[in-house]
Amino acid sequence: MSSTIDSILVESRVFMPSAETVSKAHISGMSAYKALCAEAEQDPDAFWSKLAREHLTWHKPFSKVLDESNAPFYTWFEDGELNVSENCLDVHLKNGNADKTALIFEADDGAVQRVTFRELLARVCRIANGIKAMGFGKGDRAIIYMPMSIEVIATMQACARLGLTHSVVFGGFSAKSLHQRIVDVGASLVITADAQMRGGRVIPLKAAVDEALTGAGSEVVKKVVVYRRAGTDVAWDEARDVWLHDIEEGQPDTCDPVAVEAEHPLFILYTSGSTGKPKGVQHASAGFLLWASVTSKWVFDAKPDDVFWCTADVGWVTGHSYIVYGTMAAGLTQVVFEGIPTYPDAGRFWQMIERHKVTIFYTAPTAIRSLIKASQAHPETHPERYDLSSLRLLGSVGEPINPEAWVWYYNNVGGGRCPVVDTWWQTETGGHILTPLPGATPLKPGSCTLPLPGISTSVVDEAGNEVPEGRGGLLVINRPWPAMIRTVWGDPDRFTSGYFPPELKGAYLAGDNAQRDKDGYYWIMGRTDDVLSVSGHRLGGTEIESALVSHELVAEAAVVGRPDATTGEAIVAFVMLKRPVPEGKEAEDIAGQLRDWVAREVGVIAKPRDIRFGNNLPKTRSGKIMRRLLRVVAEGKEVLQDVSTLENPDVLKQFTGVY
Ligand code: WT7
Repeated sequence: MSSTIDSILVESRVFMPSAETVSKAHISGMSAYKALCAEAEQDPDAFWSKLAREHLTWHKPFSKVLDESNAPFYTWFEDGELNVSENCLDVHLKNGNADKTALIFEADDGAVQRVTFRELLARVCRIANGIKAMGFGKGDRAIIYMPMSIEVIATMQACARLGLTHSVVFGGFSAKSLHQRIVDVGASLVITADAQMRGGRVIPLKAAVDEALTGAGSEVVKKVVVYRRAGTDVAWDEARDVWLHDIEEGQPDTCDPVAVEAEHPLFILYTSGSTGKPKGVQHASAGFLLWASVTSKWVFDAKPDDVFWCTADVGWVTGHSYIVYGTMAAGLTQVVFEGIPTYPDAGRFWQMIERHKVTIFYTAPTAIRSLIKASQAHPETHPERYDLSSLRLLGSVGEPINPEAWVWYYNNVGGGRCPVVDTWWQTETGGHILTPLPGATPLKPGSCTLPLPGISTSVVDEAGNEVPEGRGGLLVINRPWPAMIRTVWGDPDRFTSGYFPPELKGAYLAGDNAQRDKDGYYWIMGRTDDVLSVSGHRLGGTEIESALVSHELVAEAAVVGRPDATTGEAIVAFVMLKRPVPEGKEAEDIAGQLRDWVAREVGVIAKPRDIRFGNNLPKTRSGKIMRRLLRVVAEGKEVLQDVSTLENPDVLKQFTGVY
């Protein structure tokens, strides 16, 4: 980690927005940015209320803006009513954009399907009518476990149309993780697919749902709707299971949007925190949609003829905000991709940008780094082999982007003419927080630059006092914003204690370390808790530890991240078995078993890269595992820190074998 920090601090290149970008931008020039910031600061209620009136269509207008009386359980636009799906779809039919392409779907095998806003709305309505006919409605919760598809987007929108709260579970999570979320959220409906197609492989989904529904507490689920994607055989429960095409059959193309209160939970999305159990981040309808669509317009500088491509999966917040809701409300034509960046080869992204004439491309640093590596090994996959001249804006999200990757992205993908917006935000923030504005902010590679208008951020010490420039500290958001997390589903105490510790005097604790430079630019230095970022996916170290210790051979385990040039961090597990330390073939076998176990318990994305065995773990005299020291060992470095507080200093020497 320290080497990355050093390298970001010596980064001094500045890239100015071109005169052309500035002249056409929604927020044009630094003075326009500063004026908006000043407007928001002088009268926040007027600022937010104007945005909410201009950008959203309401069934019942709001009279209140922010209500702080029950802080930190803030509410926004509380007495207003609206429907999210109407704001994403119906509005475009009224604006003369009915026949504009809403989605360009490219399947894993390259087949392309386009739908207009009119067609997408009709599809959403048929699905919504089908869901309604089964007896579900506002107040119910649906778990969605589907591949990237037009269907998953239509299903999420159909839930929003009826006021059902959805909780999407990424297809890379196991049956066990799915079960946990079904029970925690109290879902009465599950929507899935027979299987998903990724990289030429067929990965079953319905089978995982069947397994998840055998566990205790899952009898809350009344119906399972199955989208037939792969045509594979699936087990069938006649009383419970129903095909998506069957519920749509014979349904009308229209469905009245159900007006919901502004604070009605639009979705709950599970994310990892510092304890073993994932937390359900609850988002409100109006505030979330407002910020997701305003940031789509400001940060991506959305124009009517843009073709926008966000490569995230809808199982993560990025897909919620910048595929399904914000960008759709902004009326963008979007590319949706089922597959993976390296299939059939590592030129897939560039080929798709060329094919669909993508103008705005939004992806994760881990993808950029792996494609840099691939293009070195296989020059035919280098972006220079493709016509990427349609691009005018690039984005990055999910983890810090190292300056080398930034500059490669800027030069080789963006042809030196496209601004790169490095957007810092989280599941909890609902939308962008720290990010450049393409027509205003001078760019520094590796910095997510400045807070958006209306957002107030600081870097503070543990006592809540601002730290001087150039010094590391905790990133906090000082004032509430409309798209903020409302609570942790079913656990309000975890919401208050985790995000609003009393020392911070009401500020929201992001959980990231950051520092500011002399220009006030923010540089993110990674998480302060045990959350790991592997290929841009947020995973709880504690969650993986709990999975490991539940294996019959394991006595104790500790999980840490080690820096990895491609994936950001790699998972390293330190394991103490209930038997002597294994070596050679036996160690390899057990490591293999443990990896499969973690894949079953959490998901394939959580498999440890390295497993190191020892007969104990380094602990303080009070019995706390010293993960800080294990991080040094995980990097293959010698521990030079003072280990005198350790109960058992010699223990560090034993983790020599890496399996
Ligand atoms: C964590 C949030 C943002 C949506 C996808 C991830 C890290 C996110 C950046 C960035 C440096 C970043 C932070 C944050 N992160 N974007 N541009 N630069 N770090 O959402 O799964 O909730 O993870 O991702 O550590 O806390 P998430």
